[in-house]
Amino acid sequence: MTDWQELEKKYYMQTFERLPVTIVRGKGPYVWDDDGKEYLDFVGGWAVTTLGHCHPVLTRALTEQASLLIQTSNQYYTVPQLQLAQLLVENSCLDRVFFGNSGAEANEGAVKLARRYGQLNLKGAYEVISTFSSFHGRTLAMVAATGQLKFQQSYPPLPTGFVNVAFNNIEAIKTATTERTCAVMLEPIQGEGGVNLPDDGYLPAIRKWCDRKGILLILDEIQTGVGRTGTLFAYEQYGVEPDIMTLAKGLANGVPIGAILAKEKASVFVPGEHGSTFGGNPLACAAGYATLKFVIDNDIAGRVKEVGDYLIDRLEKMKPKFSAITDVRGRGLLVAVEFNDDIAQSLVMDCLERGLLVNKLKPNALRFMPPLIIGKKEVDEALDILDKALSSVKK
Ligand SMILES: Cc1ncc(COP(=O)(O)O)c(C=O)c1O
Repeated sequence: MTDWQELEKKYYMQTFERLPVTIVRGKGPYVWDDDGKEYLDFVGGWAVTTLGHCHPVLTRALTEQASLLIQTSNQYYTVPQLQLAQLLVENSCLDRVFFGNSGAEANEGAVKLARRYGQLNLKGAYEVISTFSSFHGRTLAMVAATGQLKFQQSYPPLPTGFVNVAFNNIEAIKTATTERTCAVMLEPIQGEGGVNLPDDGYLPAIRKWCDRKGILLILDEIQTGVGRTGTLFAYEQYGVEPDIMTLAKGLANGVPIGAILAKEKASVFVPGEHGSTFGGNPLACAAGYATLKFVIDNDIAGRVKEVGDYLIDRLEKMKPKFSAITDVRGRGLLVAVEFNDDIAQSLVMDCLERGLLVNKLKPNALRFMPPLIIGKKEVDEALDILDKALSSVKK
């Protein structure tokens, strides 16, 4: 039998710290490895598999579209692209859409859009203020926007035009704003940086400041969007509307896609200023349309709120038994649990052994980002495994 993990060592660039499991198949919230072992998947393709693995609605949409049309040039109109654009606009506060292929690419486009807006309306302002502990992607410009040294330090010189300031600190944004500023860009809830929630009033204060200065508010909802936090988009919970919003991850359930959405006033690209070969192609957009339509028609976000509250409540109830748990935080099905020691790796390995996939968010924290179709039964199954892992954890 082929040793796939040996092949990886030989042929693949060594950019990932992988776990020793080769996944070959998935169904709903479960995956199976090449030995046939079953795992409950609370990583969800990294907050991507909205409807779980191989959902029949998605499989049908993909097979039908694959036998009809996969790719044309964006010189021509295609139906799934426009259906998905309409569905997004009719269910958000934004007016127009552009599709790319990934989160980083969507954010790059959002920054280009903000710079173009700055050229046209703000005397050439080009600078974007973003926050420490953020994550906006791996392209050079998005590494500059991402306020984490560990992602930046290997690649100097980074593109200029980004200023990183403290999260949850409106004064820091005000101080950093100059005549060069065209936008503030942030995740409503920081995902990769620690599942960090915004303080009450933080996002409305940023909205007010952006309005006062005439600059744009870009919300990166790549991780929080499409129902993940218990509403279709996280901004709905914080009483703000962005001028530009980016989506990717869960939008097409694993088929690569990215989207820039903008209010009419911020939608300033003219023909030739931005583009993509694959972006918005019929296959990815058919997957996006099937996923988003299912999420909306079945109130998946409402279900996420209920199941997410149950997950947080059950984790809170584990605190008296396990003094190692110092914090439980999150919204919907984006949840972190933090410990008083660096036990996350050991827990991940123990859970893996017991048939649960979880993410090490930090050396002392785990993150749960399961498919949005899970119920309380799967939460119980996962936390029963975590309970056993915590009972036997070695540092
Ligand atoms: C908030 C946020 N923005 C952007 C990205 C980058 O997306 P991608 O990996 O699709 O480029 C991520 C990925 O984790 C993310 O969580």
